[in-house]
Amino acid sequence: MVVSNRLPVDRVTAHDGSPSWKPSPGGLVTALEPVMRANDGAWVGWTGVADDEQGPFEADGLHLVPVRLSATAVELYYEGFSNDTIWPLYHDVIAQPTYSRRFWEAYVAVNQQFAEAAADVAAEGGTVWVQDYQLQLVPKMLRELRPDLVIGFFNHIPFPAYGLFSQLPWRREIAEGLLGADLIGFQRRADAGNFLRAIRRIFHVQTGKGRIELPAAGEGSWPNSSSDQPRTVVARHFPISIDAKAYVDLVEDPEVRARAAQIRSDLGNPSTIMLGVDRLDYTKGIQHRFAAYAELLAEGKLDVDDTVLVQIASPSRERVETYKALRDDIELTVGRVNGEFGSIAHSAINYLHHGYPREEMVALFLAADVMLVTALRDGMNLVAKEYVATRADEDGVLVLSEFAGAADELKQALLVNPHDIEGLKRAILSAVHMSRAERRTRMRSLRHRVLTHDVERWSKDFLDALADLRPTPSARA
Ligand code: G6P
Repeated sequence: MVVSNRLPVDRVTAHDGSPSWKPSPGGLVTALEPVMRANDGAWVGWTGVADDEQGPFEADGLHLVPVRLSATAVELYYEGFSNDTIWPLYHDVIAQPTYSRRFWEAYVAVNQQFAEAAADVAAEGGTVWVQDYQLQLVPKMLRELRPDLVIGFFNHIPFPAYGLFSQLPWRREIAEGLLGADLIGFQRRADAGNFLRAIRRIFHVQTGKGRIELPAAGEGSWPNSSSDQPRTVVARHFPISIDAKAYVDLVEDPEVRARAAQIRSDLGNPSTIMLGVDRLDYTKGIQHRFAAYAELLAEGKLDVDDTVLVQIASPSRERVETYKALRDDIELTVGRVNGEFGSIAHSAINYLHHGYPREEMVALFLAADVMLVTALRDGMNLVAKEYVATRADEDGVLVLSEFAGAADELKQALLVNPHDIEGLKRAILSAVHMSRAERRTRMRSLRHRVLTHDVERWSKDFLDALADLRPTPSARA
């Protein structure tokens, strides 16, 4: 059973009031959906709408169990503590986190609600896999309700260095919440290292090889309130991935290929199409990408007559102030760059504030000569892996931020520090001018990595590691 803030589908209501469902945004859902489809488990989460009374339902072979969030909970727990406190803090304080006691109280209450929903649904002795930063207290709360369960937790976003994590007034409570799990997964080795360091600093213990030994309740000052047995918690990295085969299959689809050709021709068949695909989020470095591109246009090193940047920015967390301000900033920049460098025939930046279905995304990936992933901090960045999986023609160049988790694996990309605008400009120019032979060599090795390390392997690795920690029947008795 999976527990995540969001279900894989969001409720949408049309203008005439008729309800329907659409896929939810973000990497978590992209990754977990195929895993859940293959495993027939239940998925507990929110429908994306406040006060939704929806009961459990089936969608496309998935068993979905909605958790109802009040409008206040959405404001204080989701927009507040999750996305205005933890999100900026865990992304290295790119934006200033808000530390609000009201946000925290709502986070505790909603995590309790998720833990109770999971406790109601989970089978005796079952495995529950809790997901992401919105639900860090659920492992401990769930263990208290259901000590029979095996509990995994996976953090999809970075885990910050202790110097930053220690700012959090509730750092001890969050650490205790996570330690309710048997296995805690992170994207990068460095994230697991940061977490283990935090555990050492907060609880003054040793953590050898990612193993944290918790004594039984009542012994020492350790957080193991609910168990009369000593417990081991393991923390390790498990880099997440995509359903690579689904992307490879779509590349074979003649309609998708025709659409890719259509996109190129609609853009005036330029020599270079550069592409950015992101949720509209300040962690993604969209402004840095625009700055580098605009300077290259200003210096005459790129020309709008034969180059275009397509930027898909899918709407995200639109009621959170930092996101509103970001949208204004980005749209101002697009207007400025297009005003300055565009021509009657060509825009410099083709900016689209929409999400698109997967078929359209694959067509865009196929049409793009250069993919720009310039995140300032990113847990993994699955878009980078999607681009690579799609390029069965072994063409296309990936420019990838070293601050995205994907950089640990995709070493044949052009790795960049997006804060270094000169370096970013150099990487963009090398991508534009790279020889076919070099593009092929790099893409071949990138594809090998993504196709052999897909999301099925990720979930298997995690669930196998979790099963290894499951107490044997005699130990449990
Ligand atoms: C990231 C997070 C997910 C989240 C997604 C979309 O991928 O790791 O937990 O669901 O963004 O964000 P949203 O706030 O719309 O759920």
